[in-house]
Amino acid sequence: MQDFAGKVAVITGAASGIGKALTEKCIAEGMHVVMADIEEAALEKAAAELQATTNNQVLPIVANVAMEAELRKVRDEAVETLGGVHLLFNNAGVGGGGNSWNATQKDWDWVFGVNLWSVIYGLRVFVPQMIAQETPCHIVNTASIAGIIGGSTNALYSVTKHGVVALTENLSVDLKEEDTNIGCSVLCPGFVNTNIFNSGRNRPADLANREDPQPLTPEDEQRIAMFQEILRQGMQPAEIAEIVFDAIRADRLYILTHDHFDEMIRDRAENMINGTNPLMGEAALANLAKPAD
Ligand code: NAI
Repeated sequence: MQDFAGKVAVITGAASGIGKALTEKCIAEGMHVVMADIEEAALEKAAAELQATTNNQVLPIVANVAMEAELRKVRDEAVETLGGVHLLFNNAGVGGGGNSWNATQKDWDWVFGVNLWSVIYGLRVFVPQMIAQETPCHIVNTASIAGIIGGSTNALYSVTKHGVVALTENLSVDLKEEDTNIGCSVLCPGFVNTNIFNSGRNRPADLANREDPQPLTPEDEQRIAMFQEILRQGMQPAEIAEIVFDAIRADRLYILTHDHFDEMIRDRAENMINGTNPLMGEAALANLAKPAD
């Protein structure tokens, strides 16, 4: 996809962070935008701010992307109001901590719903629409560097993001085999300065744990503070949006944004081929915490 002006973009998780920056970039490219998000007040505020910057249309739609029917509603409103969908960002996501055996069923359901099922639903809902349009289109699924490197003390998040990478790799083959006009990319950022650490603000009540969480140990608190600081010093979302548009124009499948993870990607591949075990615990964390180049 090369021409963006006058075309329609749908961005999920558009009220904050990377999704908001992608929306701003779409507007700067002259596109009409549909902003889908579960957080109504933040969505309305962001949409009003952005509408004031453009004569093109900014359409906010409150939607929980973990539900396919809500994404169908987004598609139908986009097509009815703006005439089609040319660029789709399956971007909404939540951080969710915990190891595999302590996380509850509701923890798994929440993180899987927002991070992985939403992308599957997004493809089921929007790809047939894009095929029917017969115009050049592109889909960007947001995974994470956590979807490429090995374990990073966050099983739920890692599993969903590895899923998004695998899904997009398959999508790229399937879209070519079916001879469509649709390109696709998987966005795998390192740390970005967003609100992801406060993802719990949007956790639906029916997926909240009934019991209070275990009190944090001093080590937990130290680790949380460290991650918050790493995020705060992370890349700015606007920079990510520029990288993403360069990749769309180049029809590039993998969008990696932070060079300093390259070594970890290579290490993982080499460990697999050589049958050696990855770094564990503190050593792995120290590697993660290396500052951006
Ligand atoms: P953010 O918290 O600033 O923005 C996420 C947006 O998704 C929020 O506006 C939130 O309301 C929305 N959202 C949450 N649950 C939703 C639901 N069920 N339905 C619809 N919208 C929902 O976080 P950020 O960082 O901008 O996250 C965007 C994507 O980037 C996520 O997929 C995340 O996993 C990914 N990512 C973020 C990184 C970072 O360091 N911030 C690094 C790698 C990937």
